[in-house]
Amino acid sequence: MSPDTMILRALREAGLGGVSGASLAKDLGVSRAAVWNRIEELRRHGYDIEASPHLGYVLRGSPNALHGDDLMARLPRNRVIGRDVRVFSETTSTNDIIEKLARDGVAEGSVVFAETQTRGRGRMGRQWHSPTGSGLWFSVLLRPRLRPSAATQLTVVSAVAVARAIERETGLRPDIKWPNDIMFGQKKVAGILLELGAELDRIRHATLGIGIDVNVDPAELPPEVREVATSLRAELGRVVDRASLATAVLRELDHLYQRLGDGDFHEIGDDWMRRCSTLGRRVVIHIGDRRVTGRAEALDDEGALLVRTEFGTIERIIGGDVTQEKAP
Ligand code: BTN
Repeated sequence: MSPDTMILRALREAGLGGVSGASLAKDLGVSRAAVWNRIEELRRHGYDIEASPHLGYVLRGSPNALHGDDLMARLPRNRVIGRDVRVFSETTSTNDIIEKLARDGVAEGSVVFAETQTRGRGRMGRQWHSPTGSGLWFSVLLRPRLRPSAATQLTVVSAVAVARAIERETGLRPDIKWPNDIMFGQKKVAGILLELGAELDRIRHATLGIGIDVNVDPAELPPEVREVATSLRAELGRVVDRASLATAVLRELDHLYQRLGDGDFHEIGDDWMRRCSTLGRRVVIHIGDRRVTGRAEALDDEGALLVRTEFGTIERIIGGDVTQEKAP
């Protein structure tokens, strides 16, 4: 654990009670002067840390910018997802950075955030807009023991994690549109892009990219996106703390991913179904040049969507672009 992660974790755990320089110095194995230097550096990054003669150091406020050390300080010690968290001020796509880490043999659970992406990408080859400092744009390296055909389970797990974290942090309950769009009514607030490095029978690694329009002003987005996008700030009428939401998503993801590894997909799938706005609706799905229409009936054990077509047959859909009829 880096010194800054240790200091921020101790400050957060102590809350308004504060933590003494002597105890920080002891835990870190350094002098009190060295602790002071780190505190000064954190202040330069925008952390409001008071030095009180009675209480020691008290964390009064945190900056809007994301910091890897701080995000790690807010996560449980025994986690897999978020064992390492890096924040870039700008990158092409956070999925590109994770791909590189995967090729370098880095262990699963590494997370990369960017304050903005110059070539953010969405599903179906679409562009993903990532305005600076107002959203959460991040990717996670996974090495799941799943067959490639079960990869949809990962998108189901991620969608549930994002929906639960949004609910926990804001009290709002978004819907999930199959497989992994997070929606308020007809407007999208978050999307998930899963890219696989796979052989025929084995996933070597999966890059899970998540984009959440947290404090984005929809007016900043290009006209074609503006009509179908929203943000948490637009829905709530107030700014949402990005670091707090980011750690809530990573905690949920860590918990659900471990349950998936323990063979507990059923319960996660049940929560997905409760949150899903697609089931029971008429849908049109474009899969390349193919078009499937029918009624979305259920999710199977691998996370695929089962659609009853107009001919009465069941089509098993593992990917594609879904249009669903509006709620009655
Ligand atoms: C979609 O709904 O089309 C998926 C959008 C995924 C966007 C995220 S932002 C972080 C990561 N990096 C990318 O380039 N894309 C994903």
